[in-house]
Amino acid sequence: MTQSPETPTSSKAEEALANATNDASLARSIARSAEIEADLDVNPGRYRMLTGVRPTGNMHLGHYFGTMRSWQPIQDRGVDTWILVADYQVITDRDGVGPIRERVLSLVADTLSVGVDPERSTIFAHSAVPAENQLMLPFLSLVSESELHRNPTVKAELEATDGRAMTGLMLTYPVHQAADILFCQANLVPVGKDQLPHLEQARLIAQRFDKRYGRADKKHPVFRRPEALLGEAPLLLGLDGEKMSKSRGNTIELRMTADETAKALKKAKTDSNRVITYDPENRPEVSNLLMLASLCGAGAPEEIAERIGDGGAGTLKKVTTEAVNEFFAPIRAKRAELVANEDYLVSVLHEGNARANAVANETLDAVRSAMHMSY
Ligand code: TRP
Repeated sequence: MTQSPETPTSSKAEEALANATNDASLARSIARSAEIEADLDVNPGRYRMLTGVRPTGNMHLGHYFGTMRSWQPIQDRGVDTWILVADYQVITDRDGVGPIRERVLSLVADTLSVGVDPERSTIFAHSAVPAENQLMLPFLSLVSESELHRNPTVKAELEATDGRAMTGLMLTYPVHQAADILFCQANLVPVGKDQLPHLEQARLIAQRFDKRYGRADKKHPVFRRPEALLGEAPLLLGLDGEKMSKSRGNTIELRMTADETAKALKKAKTDSNRVITYDPENRPEVSNLLMLASLCGAGAPEEIAERIGDGGAGTLKKVTTEAVNEFFAPIRAKRAELVANEDYLVSVLHEGNARANAVANETLDAVRSAMHMSY
């Protein structure tokens, strides 16, 4: 097979992906993100925001403060908000997907409980949108194998698989993620810095598609070019001081009761110095609890520390527990109501899936037509 001129050479692609994370480009992304942030108030109607979450278990406070808390404010500014339940991304590794149906519905409940309004926003699942998934084929033809191997996130995922074989879907999941973003013509994707290479991959695919199929210099490109909304996600550690993750069992879940939260926090790792100070470098565990209490509205971490003084870890945990339970009480109450009504959760998903399918079918039609494959 000969390479057509617009086929990416691996070095160019590598450069583009590496550029997504180098300092100058990061500075550009940050500046552009701030510009968009300001424009959201002026022209919310210009934006369609898409974010995706893998239904791997129950959402925890790391998810909440990392991304979920920004969804309602974005939606309420009038931005067309799309939340993807990324169920096909869960099958990227070879472990079982667990009780996937429960997890998907639990994620829908989490999403609604943090204020996403299904009347205004679209909540949908990968597996329910065939036309989106079909975009994988033309998209895969626009990326090279070595480019996929060099994707920093895929590399990290490979390392995390602990020597087990990587599936083809894992290798190509950035392409699938590009399909997530591009099928619905989203132009805004809230991401952390680590996800910038993914977004760059999506932009490259959009660009290459339009170029290859003669839409690059016309007024009507098939795809929009998505941009990053870089969030200021505070780094919350798990209760053992390690990275917060479900598999480590060191999280506080959104769905926990006040008692369960108290129990989990009681087990949190601290240190033996009774005088509580905010010192993330030298006292990561203590500082993490102060940060958590602070995020839940208890004041600045330093102030909370001062109030506790020499009250020790016990007082710190008590203060943190109260702050967390008070902050999450309304979300948890709403969530409890929602999970009691499975039919409702399913109906929300059905409606979102229908909207997603309508847009996906339109996009696929445009793709077929650009490719001269409409028969
Ligand atoms: N990869 C993301 C994660 O692991 C989830 C995701 C899937 C996503 N599709 C997306 C995020 C599209 C943003 C846009 O959290």
